[in-house]
Amino acid sequence: MIKIAVIPGDGIGKEVVAEGLKVLRKIEELSNVKFDFQEYPFGAEHYLKTGETLPDWALEEFRHFDAIYFGAIGDPRVKPGILEHGILLKLRFSLDLYVNLRPVKLYHPKLTPLKGKEKIDMVFIRENTEGLYAGAGGFLRKGTPHEVAIQEMINTRFGVERTIRFAFEYAKTKGRKKVTLVDKANVLTYAHDLWQRVFKEVASEYQEIETDHYYVDAMAMKMIRSPEIFEVVVTPNMFGDILTDLGAEIVGGLGLAASGNINPRGVSMFEPVHGSAPDIAGKGIANPLAAILTAALMLEHLGLDREASLVEKAVAKTIEENKVTPDLGGELKTSEVGNEVVKNLEVLWDEGEES
Ligand code: NAD
Ligand code: IPM
Ligand code: MN
Repeated sequence: MIKIAVIPGDGIGKEVVAEGLKVLRKIEELSNVKFDFQEYPFGAEHYLKTGETLPDWALEEFRHFDAIYFGAIGDPRVKPGILEHGILLKLRFSLDLYVNLRPVKLYHPKLTPLKGKEKIDMVFIRENTEGLYAGAGGFLRKGTPHEVAIQEMINTRFGVERTIRFAFEYAKTKGRKKVTLVDKANVLTYAHDLWQRVFKEVASEYQEIETDHYYVDAMAMKMIRSPEIFEVVVTPNMFGDILTDLGAEIVGGLGLAASGNINPRGVSMFEPVHGSAPDIAGKGIANPLAAILTAALMLEHLGLDREASLVEKAVAKTIEENKVTPDLGGELKTSEVGNEVVKNLEVLWDEGEES
């Protein structure tokens, strides 16, 4: 029995997680894998009702699960930062989910807005518990004309090294030939000097893997001009956040971008890259494919490689057949897309059994 904590969260988080669960239930039906899903109510509604974001008892419970499946949080009625820090970042920090693994993969050439690009397949390894997200800072003379707002960027040798090491190990085990470091060492001459030194050091242990480096501004340009040259990209927290929305857009948009928050020695959490999308929430038009591909990442993490790969193929087939939501130019509703993936999964599964 695989125990999964489910936090649908807010807005389209709830809508897309329902579709991911549909696909996971189909896996149960087709295979001998059994899931035990336990749902938690954390998010804006719960906060507005109780004043509670994420209680410590829940964090303790999460440690006993095999994985966490998360939708999205964020609500216009709640001051920015409360739910983001109180729930999402608290999960990442408290459970030490130090790698945010975000594939940027083109499932079909028609999805990219870039001319003539057919192959885009890179994986971002985003540092996930430090950098500008460390939460250190404060105000001086708040509310006066001389106010100073300070937000400190924390980079520890320990945190930087384990993230870079993860990137090289990932490249090695997945047969990828190159790791690219993205930083801003030309300006952040302390913080990112550390990144450069550690990167060189760790790279020297992986002679068979090629290395490469871009400053983050040039990287944004290069991802548009030549996305095909990237394989594994390792980068600090904030840059990883920004570049993976850009990455999502060059392969079809946020509706397709999956992610895992990984602690290699503990429970990991899986969530789409997108947020709660208040602009489209409640309309039944959110693209569930990011959440479904996120479920596939979770299956892979749980050692269910065949299941993961079939879910990915079922998604690719659904895109191929144009059974998609309006963000991808289709006319289907969120739940209809989920049903199509389930149908395709069943077909692909049977084909696999027969061959
Ligand atoms: P967003 O990702 O929610 O939305 C950005 C744009 O992309 C919107 O126009 C939205 O409609 C569209 N979009 C996103 N996902 C989509 C999908 N699956 N299908 C179709 N269209 C989709 O980002 P935002 O608007 O900047 O943030 C909204 C809220 O979500 C904020 O409160 C923010 O803090 C929060 N947020 C949460 C997470 C998370 O929980 N992991 C991530 C990002 C943002
Ligand atoms: C993401 C989100 C979060 C982040 C926010 C909501 C805290 O944008 O998961 O990409 O900045 O990491
Ligand atoms: Mn983001």
